[in-house]
Amino acid sequence: MTYGMIATWRMAYDGVAEMTKELQKGKDAGDALVEAIKQVEDYPFYKSVGYGGLPNEHCILEMDAAYMDGNTFDIGAVAGIQDVKNPIAVAQSLSHERFNSFLVGSGATKYAKNAGFECQNMLTERAKRLWELRMEEIQKHNLSPYDGHDTIGAVSLDIHKKMVAGTSSSGLFMKKSGRVGDSPLSGSGFYVDSEIGGATATGLGEDLMKGCLSYEIVRLMGTGLHPQQAADQAVYQFAEKLTKRKGKAGAFSLVCMNKSGEWGVATNVEFSFVVATEHEAAEIYLAYPAENQTTRIEIASKEWLAAYETRIKKPLD
Ligand code: GLY
Repeated sequence: MTYGMIATWRMAYDGVAEMTKELQKGKDAGDALVEAIKQVEDYPFYKSVGYGGLPNEHCILEMDAAYMDGNTFDIGAVAGIQDVKNPIAVAQSLSHERFNSFLVGSGATKYAKNAGFECQNMLTERAKRLWELRMEEIQKHNLSPYDGHDTIGAVSLDIHKKMVAGTSSSGLFMKKSGRVGDSPLSGSGFYVDSEIGGATATGLGEDLMKGCLSYEIVRLMGTGLHPQQAADQAVYQFAEKLTKRKGKAGAFSLVCMNKSGEWGVATNVEFSFVVATEHEAAEIYLAYPAENQTTRIEIASKEWLAAYETRIKKPLD
């Protein structure tokens, strides 16, 4: 009767809390994961996923999402999809296709419309204002435009031993039109094998995809490592290697869960995540890189949670 779900960022809390109760009753890991991610896509104040997400350089919201079934290895993915309410549901649907299972740009949007997925304008007034303010800042201070890329990534385990991984993201704020991050890329943004476990990533896609870190964590769990050891080893060794070779590494944060519901996390920045299993109620944690390539994990304090709530709803000038 093992079950559980782990997901990136505090924004995943409501979906994980609700869907782990459904997993306990026997809900399919894939359907639970899609429902959990949809909740994040639908909430306008989570500014890096779905409705209200961060627009590209032309103030157009282009979204990436993926879904992987750990029993069959079926993958569905979309990149640069526009005006579609729930990209994760489109990715799940595409995972059933033998061919054409990863669609981009207008092809992805057209598929979603023709298949009857709900379509709407995904750009909120708040996201548009954030874009305008960012444009002003960039021009005034000659800044790099690229900041903000938080993906919802989740791994789900059901009582039938099925595991699924999925992601959804508006990608890098101010990205070039057509830019694709790690989130829809198998091995980089996500990977899952029901006989081992799954992993998913958030952070700077351009650097995450250099290390195929989701696959690497699953591979290491397959050698018998505990998920925490697998995450620490994959993430910190690669961050170190990249820093040595290129002088710097972007933000990386990965979460993982194995087929027994044990979990792990590793990150090179402060990072919040959510986990719930048969043994533990849904909880919001903070993770930090610690000494000797390990991760410090603590429960998010009431103060942190209150500051988060204030930050995401802060009135804009
Ligand atoms: N990790 C999200 C992105 O870089 O697009």
